[in-house]
Amino acid sequence: MTARTLAIDTDPGQDDAVALLLAFAHREAFDVKLIASVAGNVGLERTTANALRIRDLAGRGDVPVHAGMAGPMVVPLETAEFISGPDGLAGSGLPESASRPADGHAVDALIRLIRIEPPGSVTICALGPLTNIAMALRLAPDIAPRLGLLSIMGGALSLGNMTPAAEFNFYVDPHAAAVVMSAGVKTALFGLDVTHQAIASPAHVARLAALGNRAGACVYGMLTRPRPGGMATKAHPMHDPCTVAWLMWPELFDGRDCHVEIETDGRVRGRSTIDWNGRTKRSPNAYVASKVDAGALFDRMIDSIARLP
Ligand code: BDR
Ligand code: CA
Repeated sequence: MTARTLAIDTDPGQDDAVALLLAFAHREAFDVKLIASVAGNVGLERTTANALRIRDLAGRGDVPVHAGMAGPMVVPLETAEFISGPDGLAGSGLPESASRPADGHAVDALIRLIRIEPPGSVTICALGPLTNIAMALRLAPDIAPRLGLLSIMGGALSLGNMTPAAEFNFYVDPHAAAVVMSAGVKTALFGLDVTHQAIASPAHVARLAALGNRAGACVYGMLTRPRPGGMATKAHPMHDPCTVAWLMWPELFDGRDCHVEIETDGRVRGRSTIDWNGRTKRSPNAYVASKVDAGALFDRMIDSIARLP
């Protein structure tokens, strides 16, 4: 297998951390060229620091972490400490990193990577608000036809988790989501319908604890941290790892090609209007995942975490 050239745009975030670990665990599948941090779950300073903490845990000091956009394109930043905890990685037990982010803004680093790699060869996993990616597409429109694939966690066919209408990542920067979803780039979308199926069973959680490595203990701690009040699901959904897992194991997922449009204003701000039944006859602009085999997903994710320090 040739390793896929990958950039990860992220706002860690516990589930972002698991997605990063999953990618780091599979050197045969992913040549991770850079991590771009963005404000989302917590502010930019923390998401950047958290990316460095996770990189340290995986022993991947070779992968640069570039700090990106500190807030959305148009609207003020709203964060999610009520889910992630004050430092963004509640339950992880990770120490602060002694290392520093790489020189250069994440938006410039993404543009540079897409320009220097062969056309169509770069995949981006987008795990947070799409601010960096939208800014890159606006600053350098030439990168759109060169970008191979965007694997995005965002949106929902049904209800939102930030508002009744909208999922968090698309709610936080709806204008960025609208720019990215209309950029003409090959896109796979993992919304709440599928990611709310990606919930570990108690047996899977126990297996993580038994791995005996630091990565297993970290993921176990994050999965078992106390639930914030009023959440609908019974455990912590692993939203962001779906974007990485699908690249390796598409057979675990089901979905269809659809036209997706992002609402930017009013009470439905950040809503992904997904034409699941093809009513509008508009050409599909994304593969929209709707189902995952969660048992097989967690079996494979635990085997992956076991490969790490
Ligand atoms: C998304 O929001 C964030 O809190 C998670 O990291 C995930 O990317 C889920 O709505
Ligand atoms: Ca995220």
